[in-house]
Amino acid sequence: MCGIIGYVGTRDAAPILLEGLRRLEYRGYDSAGVAIQNGAGLQVLKLAGRVHALKERLGREPLHGTSGIAHTRWATHGAPTGRNAHPHRDCTGDIALVHNGIIENADALRAALERQGHRFTTETDTETLAHLIEDAAGATLEDRVIAALAHVEGTYGLAVMSAAQPGKIVVARQGSPVLLGIGDNELFVASDASAVLEYTRSVVYLDDGDIAVLTPTEYHVIDSDSHVQLREVDDVTWDLAAIELGGYPHFMLKEIMEQPDTVRATLRGRLLFEHGTARLNGLNLPPEACAEIRRIVVVACGTSWHSGLVGRHVIEDLTGIPVQVEYASEYRYRRQLALPGTLTIAISQSGETADTLEAMRAARAAGSRVLGIVNVVGSTIAREADGGIYLHAGPEIGVASTKAFTSQIVALVMLGLYLGRQRGLDEEQGREIVCRLAQLPQLVSRTLALEPQVKALAERYADKPNFLYLGRGVNFPVALEGALKLKEISYIHAEGYPAAEMKHGPIALIDANMPVVFVAPKDAVYQKVLSNMQEVKARGGRIIAFTSEGNGDLSALADQQLRVPATLPLLSPVLTSIPLQLLAYHIAVLRGCDVDRPRNLAKSVTVE
Ligand code: G6P
Repeated sequence: MCGIIGYVGTRDAAPILLEGLRRLEYRGYDSAGVAIQNGAGLQVLKLAGRVHALKERLGREPLHGTSGIAHTRWATHGAPTGRNAHPHRDCTGDIALVHNGIIENADALRAALERQGHRFTTETDTETLAHLIEDAAGATLEDRVIAALAHVEGTYGLAVMSAAQPGKIVVARQGSPVLLGIGDNELFVASDASAVLEYTRSVVYLDDGDIAVLTPTEYHVIDSDSHVQLREVDDVTWDLAAIELGGYPHFMLKEIMEQPDTVRATLRGRLLFEHGTARLNGLNLPPEACAEIRRIVVVACGTSWHSGLVGRHVIEDLTGIPVQVEYASEYRYRRQLALPGTLTIAISQSGETADTLEAMRAARAAGSRVLGIVNVVGSTIAREADGGIYLHAGPEIGVASTKAFTSQIVALVMLGLYLGRQRGLDEEQGREIVCRLAQLPQLVSRTLALEPQVKALAERYADKPNFLYLGRGVNFPVALEGALKLKEISYIHAEGYPAAEMKHGPIALIDANMPVVFVAPKDAVYQKVLSNMQEVKARGGRIIAFTSEGNGDLSALADQQLRVPATLPLLSPVLTSIPLQLLAYHIAVLRGCDVDRPRNLAKSVTVE
């Protein structure tokens, strides 16, 4: 949610900043801007719209200089206009800054600053920071930033420059991700590693409360107690190719097609065939701690919440431990029940979702051990959790999550298997699950081969205004996820429902104009789902059935049927979700939507 990048070095800053913004655009893309420091002080160019529009403007009106900061925005306070775009400035023009996060006491600060004579030019919360720094006492920019932030409540990843101190960027972090990129005679600050990977693999992740000071040749980090800190330099392990389109028209399609590899990467080195269990070294969950678990609470948002719902079925089935799955944004504000034996699992692709992070912190404060199931290595949730499972699915750039979802399910199955084997799941059953997990990458490839048929379905139904997605049991969350995919990238209204619960309301919507997508692989509720299909058919609904190989012919009921490969029912969501991803993708493309950057959305939601 908002991307920031800054550069100090010896090269021309603007192209580096623009390239960084392009990579960060998935974080927000309603406006963009840049501030470049040169002989004429700090020069700012900003506009409403995408980074490519900023690039075009800079092509016509170049700004040259060897240091600068830049921003791509997802609006919270103030409309997405050119005026509200970052960087923001103080009254004198000495300060320019870019910010990711929310200043919660901005209204009170603004009123006080205006009373003191400050002139505001935007509707944003961020502008208060520029005026606070303008007024703050201190010999250096970092002193003034520290003094200003003492008045601020809220979250920030912040990069500040002063015309009076050229070649320096001051960075601050509280609740919003920021890292430093360490190059040769050049330094970077960015919201994530993708923005700097072209120039360096060495990064320093900042902690909350940190202030960092960057000049071309030197950086230092000051912690919240004003002590200069040595921070570990981490190596980014993935390649630039992972964040390039590689011949695909969209990141979403690339990421859907990568799933045989990403599922394989999540499984790699973790299956113990002989013992019928999983090796999850990062869990930090010794057998005594496993034995003490009385309940599991999953906290997550969006697609990750859907994988949590799949995880509930899987873990309850394999372990007998009750699992509750909570929207992180709701859970964090509920009374935290300090029940002994609670294990909290935060699921997050980005590892930065503000509500998930806060829900995890609230659970920990109530005495729970917390685990993270996270894709982005080094992210805040990964670092704050007591242990967890990395997905190793590689960077996910398309705003609609796809490969992270299937890897999350695989990780949850391995967790269920690991816990289950310590709580009565027998070795034979364990071995069966391990074997079936190992077959998944190949089955995912076979499922992806259905693409031409899914595309034909998309052509048939792309003009429909509403869709209903129905499933039961472990595939009910897949129905929710299928509906979410369609609505977020094609803007078609879509609802996911438990197939039987449909009778209690949504059935009233069914007519010949309403496509109803059934997720119906072979499992214990398959016959029940067939009855639900009959109910739709009897009311003239159009039925698209995603079933599995080995199930009988559905042509008497369904208008179209597609078959994914058969697997264990608990693993079926990994396969059934894939044609739904492809269906949403192709419908969105046919409707001319911006698949990778759907309107109003952002990939990483770092504000609550
Ligand atoms: C945003 C994204 C979704 C994602 C959700 C949770 O809404 O657009 O794709 O599922 O955030 O993100 P997380 O990184 O915590 O999984």
